[in-house]
Amino acid sequence: PAPGLVIAVDGPAAAGKGTLARRLAAALGLAYLDTGLLYRATGRRVLDAAADPRDPAAAELAARGLTPADLARGDLRGPEADLAASAVAAIPAVRAALLDWQRDFGRRRGAVLDGRDIGTVVFPDATVKLFVTASPAERARRRFLELQARGTAADPAQVAAELRARDEQDSRRAVAPLVPAADAMVLDTTELDPEAAFATAMAVVRQRMGEVVPPG
Ligand code: CDP
Ligand code: CDP
Repeated sequence: PAPGLVIAVDGPAAAGKGTLARRLAAALGLAYLDTGLLYRATGRRVLDAAADPRDPAAAELAARGLTPADLARGDLRGPEADLAASAVAAIPAVRAALLDWQRDFGRRRGAVLDGRDIGTVVFPDATVKLFVTASPAERARRRFLELQARGTAADPAQVAAELRARDEQDSRRAVAPLVPAADAMVLDTTELDPEAAFATAMAVVRQRMGEVVPPG
């Protein structure tokens, strides 16, 4: 791929963003960044400090002090981490603190980034923008199965309610809300397994790359 190729993969929780973004990166020889990890790790650091993830000063401090080790922590998934991530993500100073780092990562040698605001805010000029979604029931089913596979006891109704609440919070916030970019290709994976979603996305990527870099 041309250096600097950036693919934005945004969408609601458990839509299949990470699964798709990882496969695209591997197929295209691009780096991959799960930007949700930045917000999850920030939320964790605030909780470690016994502060409130909604507290702007505590959350900004946590975001500015993030280290690679924070991103590799084993406790970044689960209901508590989900809510802390979504809370710090609504704070403008936190998003500002994480913006340059994401941009530098993507620009270095091209990348696939997944999150909520990659195509709208982080890389508004991304070569390809995908907005990956699925029905709320299907997304809740996927997250429930993931939790079960990790041996985490979960109540299906509670998982669905938690997803709904977090998507609402992410969609309604004033700064960088979850919304498809005007030029994003919406990919509904409700009826698609990971393989079919990947094939559909690759066709879109190839078409866009053909438009940007004409063959020959
Ligand atoms: O994996 P899942 O879709 O459940 O969540 P995630 O992508 O790890 O993101 C966790 C939280 O971080 C989201 O609920 C958002 O509040 C926030 N986030 C964000 O605001 N912007 C991003 N680019 C990525 C995540
Ligand atoms: O990153 P995001 O939270 O959007 O979702 P994910 O972690 O990529 O996918 C959540 C779960 O759904 C994983 O266990 C995937 O294997 C599964 N999945 C699926 O069943 N069908 C798809 N088309 C995509 C993902």
